[in-house]
Amino acid sequence: MADKEGNIDAKDFGIGIEQKHEGFFLKGCQNLDWGMKSRLARVFNPKSGHAVMLAFDHGFIMGPTSGLERIDLTINPLLDYADCIMCTRGILRTLIPPTCNKPLSLRFDAGTTILTDLNDETLMDIEDAVRVDAALLASMVAIGDPAHEGSTIRNLTRTVDLGQRYGIPTLGVTAVGKNLVRDARYLSLASRVCAENGANVVKTYFCEENFERVTNSVPVPIVIAGGKKLPEMDALTMAYRAINAGAAGVDMGRNIFQSDSPVGMLLAVRSIVHDGQTPEQAFDLYTDYKNTHKA
Ligand code: 5RP
Repeated sequence: MADKEGNIDAKDFGIGIEQKHEGFFLKGCQNLDWGMKSRLARVFNPKSGHAVMLAFDHGFIMGPTSGLERIDLTINPLLDYADCIMCTRGILRTLIPPTCNKPLSLRFDAGTTILTDLNDETLMDIEDAVRVDAALLASMVAIGDPAHEGSTIRNLTRTVDLGQRYGIPTLGVTAVGKNLVRDARYLSLASRVCAENGANVVKTYFCEENFERVTNSVPVPIVIAGGKKLPEMDALTMAYRAINAGAAGVDMGRNIFQSDSPVGMLLAVRSIVHDGQTPEQAFDLYTDYKNTHKA
């Protein structure tokens, strides 16, 4: 039997050699359990410490958003170039091939649409997140929204509790209401509230001034949303400035899938996030790809 035979010659105990123990590469995550770290290490590249996440969950509040009318045609060709995909379970099950083998940031909350009053959210069942092998549970908080601040923080808290139970990290997403200013003061407050309530990663917006205050006031990795479509050079500059101010990655949607060369943009963003390229170098990459892959 294998157990008897295996014990006969056991002698390589490496006496005198200290057992190797390595830290964990993401800030604030060193004390997490194995499953949490394993999932985070699928989303964030352990070599660069960074991630390029592709967000296409917009339809859950906006319906058939421009660029997402036919996800099978516009998003599926991009999957290979993303480190992680962020979408709803409806799109995942209907259109995303399980063979794409990308870690999933699952939109774990669902709520009101642009037709009424945003941010009135509920949560899905954790068992369904486990079933689809979620690597992150994305839950939105509307800090400063008098109508929905409390309920969305309760949702985040519940998400963290459920994620802890199953070893799935939580991505706290800061939604900025219409009347709030996206400055460092607000974004650091909202992001810090997410982390204080147990979010393992925070997704927020970039701000032109003092973004390093946002990343430094939060003890966990921050990824930035891209926001509305910008000229490609501006979007690349934003990604560059965010990474250089301490962001651990981007979770971009419209600036990728609404670009005239979505693959070119993804490659360009990757070169900034993972390889430290400048916006100019990244823009050249985007342009080269666009010119050599004309439809
Ligand atoms: C909405 C989201 C979106 O996924 C997010 O805004 C990313 O997309 P974009 O780069 O288009 O802003 O989290 O709550």
